[in-house]
Amino acid sequence: MSPEDPAGLSLLEGLHSTPARRYLSAEPIGDDVLRVILDAAVRGPSGGNSQRWAWIVVRDTAVKRQIAEWYREGWEHSYGSRREQILASGSMSPANFRAAEHLAHHLEEAPVWVFPVLLGPARSRNPRLGSSIYGAVQQLMLAARAHGIGSTLTTLYAAHEDGVRALLNLPEDAITMALVPLGYPARGRWAQPKRRPLDEVVFQERYEERS
Ligand SMILES: Cc1cc2nc3c(=O)[nH]c(=O)nc-3n(C[C@H](O)[C@H](O)[C@H](O)COP(=O)(O)O)c2cc1C
Repeated sequence: MSPEDPAGLSLLEGLHSTPARRYLSAEPIGDDVLRVILDAAVRGPSGGNSQRWAWIVVRDTAVKRQIAEWYREGWEHSYGSRREQILASGSMSPANFRAAEHLAHHLEEAPVWVFPVLLGPARSRNPRLGSSIYGAVQQLMLAARAHGIGSTLTTLYAAHEDGVRALLNLPEDAITMALVPLGYPARGRWAQPKRRPLDEVVFQERYEERS
């Protein structure tokens, strides 16, 4: 079975092979596939199963262009303007940096964007706010992967939250929790994401400082 065939990909295989995909083609994503992906997302958890969320699908070129400009401002501010410094420091691999830079410059070309939105908590100080939606966002990204569609959880547009809220016609008390561009990968592969070794990050019973 092809890896693009959802029936051919085991859950654990998917969990181990879903890195951020930032080189995306403009090939359209069918409404039926998108619906399956969103339906998998909303099976995710929220506190008390409140589901105080909205999933905004954006395909409109003008809206994407405006938000992509705001995203590039965020990119420039946090990464682009420090390009040489970041690459020299080794804090990000050159391949990752270039991929993130590519996404920043081509964001609007991704055929579908999804904004997962929480309704109500704009003034919340709850540090666990995101826990009522990020599980579902991960489900969205994994379901997309099962259909051969790549994604990245992004937030660099967020300095323009008010502008995004207005463009998406969101209520005052809503917050966009991410922008997830979706598209069929144009390059790269479904490799296992690199992470710190388990023995460095797992603790038995109690946390302890490790040098
Ligand atoms: C809270 C959060 C915000 C992120 N924002 C961005 C972003 O704005 N742009 C981007 O390219 N990637 C963004 N990422 C993706 C991370 O860079 C990515 O998950 C991490 O580098 C691991 O990538 P990998 O799974 O491919 O190894 C974000 C991830 C998280 C969890």
